[in-house]
Amino acid sequence: MVVMKNLHTFYFRTYGCQMNELDTEIMVGALQSRGLTKIEDEDNADLIIFNTCSIRDLAERKVMGKLGQLGRGKKKAIIGVTGCMAMAKKETLFRKFPHLDFVIGTNNITDLNTVLDEVLHGGKQVLKIEDKYEENLDYLVAKREDKVKAMVSIIRGCDKFCTYCVVPYTRGGEVSRTPTSILEECQKLADQGYKEVTLLGQNVNSYGKDHPEWGCLFHDLIYKLGAISLLKRIRFMTSHPIDITIELMQAIRDVPSACNLVHFPIQSGSNRILKKMHRIYTKEEYLHKVDLLNKIIPNVSLGTDIIVGFPTETEAEFQETYDIFKQIRYSIAFIYAYSPRKGTPAMRWKDDIPEEVKEERLQKLLALYSQIGDEQRAAILGSTVEVLVERFNRDQKLLKGRTTCWKKVIFPGDESMIGTLQQVKLHSFNHQTLLGDVVTRG
Ligand code: SAH
Ligand code: SF4
Ligand code: F3S
Repeated sequence: MVVMKNLHTFYFRTYGCQMNELDTEIMVGALQSRGLTKIEDEDNADLIIFNTCSIRDLAERKVMGKLGQLGRGKKKAIIGVTGCMAMAKKETLFRKFPHLDFVIGTNNITDLNTVLDEVLHGGKQVLKIEDKYEENLDYLVAKREDKVKAMVSIIRGCDKFCTYCVVPYTRGGEVSRTPTSILEECQKLADQGYKEVTLLGQNVNSYGKDHPEWGCLFHDLIYKLGAISLLKRIRFMTSHPIDITIELMQAIRDVPSACNLVHFPIQSGSNRILKKMHRIYTKEEYLHKVDLLNKIIPNVSLGTDIIVGFPTETEAEFQETYDIFKQIRYSIAFIYAYSPRKGTPAMRWKDDIPEEVKEERLQKLLALYSQIGDEQRAAILGSTVEVLVERFNRDQKLLKGRTTCWKKVIFPGDESMIGTLQQVKLHSFNHQTLLGDVVTRG
């Protein structure tokens, strides 16, 4: 244990989903407000924090590896773990990593500075974990790196308890944030020049159900945010299929800034597997929603997450997933091999699908996804799309932005275009990136 009275610099490493990224932004803001400087060089930081993820085994192993490594050298920095692994492993982390100074749970990120003081003054390991989340986060302290688009949390936690998933245990039950606080933050962001917000939640479309007295469900929120004229785009993720309503589809259609990409994971195309996953919809009910989305929202794009190799998944059941993917032609997909998670109900079933079979199914779906993507990109060449310009591309020469349905577009232009909407005529594509030229209004 080092007792360091003077902290100057810190290094943050974030794993997992956008919710973790946003939590990092909030914690970075809190550390900066106490005068610390964020640096990218881990070796020279006085404080190192890992904001961790538990969703799959690999996510945890990465952090465990890093923590082990830090313990082998001479300890120079204060080291902390926050995020979902903190909730999943709690004080056992101290036993495994005696050089670890603090562990803070997902419901306690606002306690970071107090915990840090305790570590500095008390010189002992500090654990701060509460199971219940109180809606008390000061989102305005978030330190955002991006200047054009911002993530905004609207609901934390999850009540769905899919049998494979750790999130309900690592993030707790659903707690919606008040509409006033969301609207205030979005208005402020718009005033600061942000053009796009992504509304975040494990299940954004259960927004407001825990507070019927607010009279503000997810679609109501979309209408309210649509009235902020400086905000050009409203995105949201993720949506549980069961909670996608016709009212929501109509809101997406009617609010011009609402993006027409709906990410609502199917997970599997087999009814038997869906039931075992406790996804609470059937393939037919899901397809019915796909139909409605296509009917109600012009040019809607659909996104999904999929798990292959769930316990007992047969080849024929995997084929059903493959076929439904082909039928729906998702434009965005995150495809994963099942990873058993401690404490989840699915642990009672043997993880019986061999790794090579999981890998084979994963590769088959990835190949299909890539083929569909290429066909979709080829089909829009020659057309003009609206792009929100985010920044220069990695090569620093071309500008990079995205279409309303999240397709990445790069094109020549100058810095003054950053943060504006441009009409870009597409001429080619390279992997997932579309290339084009700005159509100048004449
Ligand atoms: N709340 C979102 C997803 C959150 S987790 C939703 O329900 O749609 C992101 C994705 O990780 C999930 O959609 C699922 O596809 C995947 N995932 C979750 N637990 C997993 C596990 N144990 N093994 C493999 N993939 C998993
Ligand atoms: Fe996990 Fe299911 Fe909740 Fe998504 S809806 S976070 S997959 S339990
Ligand atoms: Fe991972 Fe927690 Fe997000 S488990 S995916 S960081 S909610």
